[in-house]
Amino acid sequence: MSSETSLFPGALISPKIQEVLPKGYICRALQRSDFRHGQLDVLGGLTHVGEITEDQWTERYDAMNKCNNTYFVLVIVDTNRDAEKMIVGTGTLIVEQKFLYNLGMQGHIEDVAVAADQQGKKLGVLLIEALGHIAEHVGCYKACISLLTILDCHPEREGFYLKCGYEKRGLEMHRYH
Ligand code: ACO
Repeated sequence: MSSETSLFPGALISPKIQEVLPKGYICRALQRSDFRHGQLDVLGGLTHVGEITEDQWTERYDAMNKCNNTYFVLVIVDTNRDAEKMIVGTGTLIVEQKFLYNLGMQGHIEDVAVAADQQGKKLGVLLIEALGHIAEHVGCYKACISLLTILDCHPEREGFYLKCGYEKRGLEMHRYH
């Protein structure tokens, strides 16, 4: 897999996750051709996606790809399905560089979704584990790192994230502008 077509190196994917995925399923980095493999259909199960063309999607992929060590978009692919709907799960880790915490880095987990007909097979929990593995390994590259991953979710998803080992902390505030 060339680094030109893949958002981050395959070496960051947990080998343990790959071992426990069902037969024919692969966990990998988002690739530049994944617009054609159903990534937006899966994300549409989370929230509004909009009418996006392949060129627009690719422009955004290229912009993310230029931000070294920041965007880690993971997908789970079911190789048994037709190519245009083979992505069955996705999740993103965004690594924020901070002045705080001794020049620490903080991981933000975003945009986690599993295709409706694939839910309940532990793909969600595996995605979160795989994103945590990336966070740990990206953080290990530098000395004096304090690495923490945080996320916001709908109260209905609290049970899922508790099962993934997350705990409730603080209060989310937001304002539309
Ligand atoms: N509430 C409580 N428990 C839950 C929920 C929930 N909403 N969803 C799953 N679980 C439990 C499961 O029952 C399972 O428990 P078990 O280990 O005791 O059997 C455990 O969590 C793991 O479940 P998975 O099978 O791994 O979950 P799944 O693959 O179905 O994915 C997900 C869960 C990602 C929330 C999926 O339902 C989904 O895509 N929903 C729509 C999109 C969404 O809401 N995404 C989260 C947005 S928040 C964010 O992106 C940071």
